Amino acid sequence: MPRYRIALMPGDGIGPDVMDAAQIVLDQIALDAEYLPADIGWSFWCCEGEALPQRTLDTLQTCDCALFAAVTSKPKEEAEADLAPELRGQGCVYRSPIVRLRQHFDLYVNLRPCKAFPGNPLNLRDDIDLVVFRENTQGLYAGVEFHPLPEEVRAALAAASPGMAAFAGTPSADIALSCRIFTREGCRRIVRSAFEYAQRHGYPTVTLVEKPNVLRETSGLMVREARQIAADYPEIKLWETNVDAMAMWLVKNPQDYGVLVSSNMFGDIISDLAAQLVGGLGFASSGNIGDAFAVFEPTHGSAPKYAGQYNVNPTAMLLAVKLMLDWLGERERAAALEAAIAAVIAEGKVRTYDLGGDNSTLEMAQAVAARI
Ligand code: IPM
Ligand code: MG
Repeated sequence: MPRYRIALMPGDGIGPDVMDAAQIVLDQIALDAEYLPADIGWSFWCCEGEALPQRTLDTLQTCDCALFAAVTSKPKEEAEADLAPELRGQGCVYRSPIVRLRQHFDLYVNLRPCKAFPGNPLNLRDDIDLVVFRENTQGLYAGVEFHPLPEEVRAALAAASPGMAAFAGTPSADIALSCRIFTREGCRRIVRSAFEYAQRHGYPTVTLVEKPNVLRETSGLMVREARQIAADYPEIKLWETNVDAMAMWLVKNPQDYGVLVSSNMFGDIISDLAAQLVGGLGFASSGNIGDAFAVFEPTHGSAPKYAGQYNVNPTAMLLAVKLMLDWLGERERAAALEAAIAAVIAEGKVRTYDLGGDNSTLEMAQAVAARI
């Protein structure tokens, strides 16, 4: 029996293109694994009313981890319009399948390395080496949202918070509410993961990116917990920043930062910013990691207009494979893959269009495979 069971979820848009690239590299690496294809994405929403079918959850349950490429998401009205006619009006609700996977498997760490590979013409600078730890299950992604505002929620809020007085004259039908929910344990585990990583990889700082001067309770809880955890790591400095200032500092002096830790939505935003410093989403990979299961993905979306053309940069997907190998404990293979990616970028002979070249997705993956 192979050592690992790994689910492959290509999804849609350019998802299958980059998953084919991943397969080229996995074959070259000869990982002792069985690969199980699993359905996910827009086509399953359209014909089944479910973008993440139960059979996929069942398959994932039997695997060590999964690779996910990309899926298309659309706002509420468009999602309803794309449903097969017999499914419309049946109460099907579209929720992003990747967000659901994170919550279903309690993948509370979103690990997003943004490292400049020398020779990448898209780098802001060549000495950037950032890793974002984004809380991945709570905050504004908790899914506790209302519109219109139910009367019982309104009454409870009015009784509990003076801030609600400002909305007293607005009809409930005209109020939308999204709750930002943090738990102490949620804060603790993401901050601890960031410190553990910093310690293991020799980063001198962990920067907490929040907004406690305004979001006094949620960001405040995270800051208080972070200070306590930091005390367990005397050799690592905890820097506290506000998310708005951080956006500016990251553009100004990205080389000064190492490990960043943030809540779900701020981490989502700041990790896109960090990705652009090192070439954009074509170079940004992401690990959704829990205690017993993990899903690895490129951070980019499904770019439907490029679907099936095999011209997008596969680097983000290949770096996701590298993160997976690390997580599986296959450190030598992971290091060899990263070195091969770095070599192909440094050499600059095989380049996809974003890098100013005209090579295909698969040619770039083959060049990487040849260097392993
Ligand atoms: C990401 C993406 C997702 C997110 C979307 C596709 C729901 O932006 O992985 O960063 O918001 O988490
Ligand atoms: Mg995002």
